[in-house]
Amino acid sequence: MDKFVVRGQNPLLGTIKVSGAKNSALPCMAAAILTENEVILENIPQVRDIETERKLLSSMGAEVELGYGRAQHRTRIKCGILSDPVAKYEIVKTMRASSLVLGPLIARTGIARVAMPGGCAIGDRPIDLHIKGLEAMGATINYDHGYLEARSPNNGSGQLKGAHVVFDKITVTGTEDLLMAAALADGESLFENCAREPEVTDLAALLNAMGAKIEGAGTGTIRIKGVSKLHGARHKINPDRIEAGTFLIAGAITGGDLNVDGLNPAHFGALIAKLEECGVKLDLGADHIRVRSSGAANLEAADISTEEYPGFPTDMQAQYMALATQFEGTSVVTENIFENRFMHVGELNRMGANITVQGRTATVRGKTPLQSAAVMCSDLRASASLVLAALVADGETILDRVYHIDRGYERIEEKLRGVGAQIRRMGDVFGKK
Ligand code: EPU
Repeated sequence: MDKFVVRGQNPLLGTIKVSGAKNSALPCMAAAILTENEVILENIPQVRDIETERKLLSSMGAEVELGYGRAQHRTRIKCGILSDPVAKYEIVKTMRASSLVLGPLIARTGIARVAMPGGCAIGDRPIDLHIKGLEAMGATINYDHGYLEARSPNNGSGQLKGAHVVFDKITVTGTEDLLMAAALADGESLFENCAREPEVTDLAALLNAMGAKIEGAGTGTIRIKGVSKLHGARHKINPDRIEAGTFLIAGAITGGDLNVDGLNPAHFGALIAKLEECGVKLDLGADHIRVRSSGAANLEAADISTEEYPGFPTDMQAQYMALATQFEGTSVVTENIFENRFMHVGELNRMGANITVQGRTATVRGKTPLQSAAVMCSDLRASASLVLAALVADGETILDRVYHIDRGYERIEEKLRGVGAQIRRMGDVFGKK
């Protein structure tokens, strides 16, 4: 199992480039199911979840070519015939976003069999709202041996119907799943209390380029006029705002001068406001943000509370917490989206942090010098938080189970090394017994 070895306390200097957004690329790849023509996606990040989605689509009979050479961030998907419309448990268990194929499969083929995702490190992650929406569109759902089988009306031979759906709770992939189903439904759909994340807007832009009629993506209310057929399209995926945000914090925590390049500053409202409140200096350009800091010890504590977009993203909570261990003062971090997203706290405390958790709230006492230690990654963003802590720690930190970080960050160790971090990947540091 790969590990990272990080020697801390080097300020990051220079320019670091942002990859395409994993959480946009995943629904956009699933959208290719909706047409028999070719869909070409540019700016696809080379991360493990994308490879998992490639396997998922291929296992259903799709032709998926992940780019190579100069076109290495391009993918070409052709779902000419979907001979096996099943999302198998072996794949779903490693990536819950696999449930994103439910809506497009049933819309295209009339039948979908998707393994039920179980819980995961950050919480229960149910998909009841996807199911409720599909039922409102006329789907019939049955459960069988851990699989969910969905059929369109008339036992899978009819078309889904447009529907009025008010989401009980804001869900990102739920909004995306139903958007794809509604694009090919018979009649008009009106969705309320939708997720407003840029990833939803990105998906809607692709669907519209494929011939869908979607209005209002990026707001809480989305209207979709169903069409009978969608065609192929070429689309460029948005930059990854969470990867970019992680780099902004890396610049701030190390006292660096870092230009985070190839992002869309409009996606960072809540993070920018919070970092500036703490005293981080940010210069915003059209597609980059430069972060300058004279060290996190000169920054003031500030509380955060995670919210749906445009609020402070849950996917940045763990990284912010690493920064908060260095602030002057105490910060209170409240996690409102997932019930169990403090897995990084135990590991940060092992490195010398002073964080206490009560329910959904963590209290982070600042100005705690971090020391190197052997630490364990538990999920994607928790791993990113440990990398950030290691960048400021005294000595050499060993991070185990970095496959979690490889799910969503493209060669993070190479990117960080390019701006002065001392970080390397090792096969098995301790060797076999
Ligand atoms: N929820 C339900 N029922 C549902 C769906 C969601 O109760 O049917 C609940 C969830 O349990 C959670 C809340 O609603 O408490 C929000 O979940 P949401 O559905 O929005 O999360 P998701 O769509 O499964 C996406 C991202 C996550 C990100 C969340 C929140 C993708 C592939 N994943 O997950 O990204 O944390 O939105 O912004 O887009 C990550 O990249 O590390 C990651 C976990």
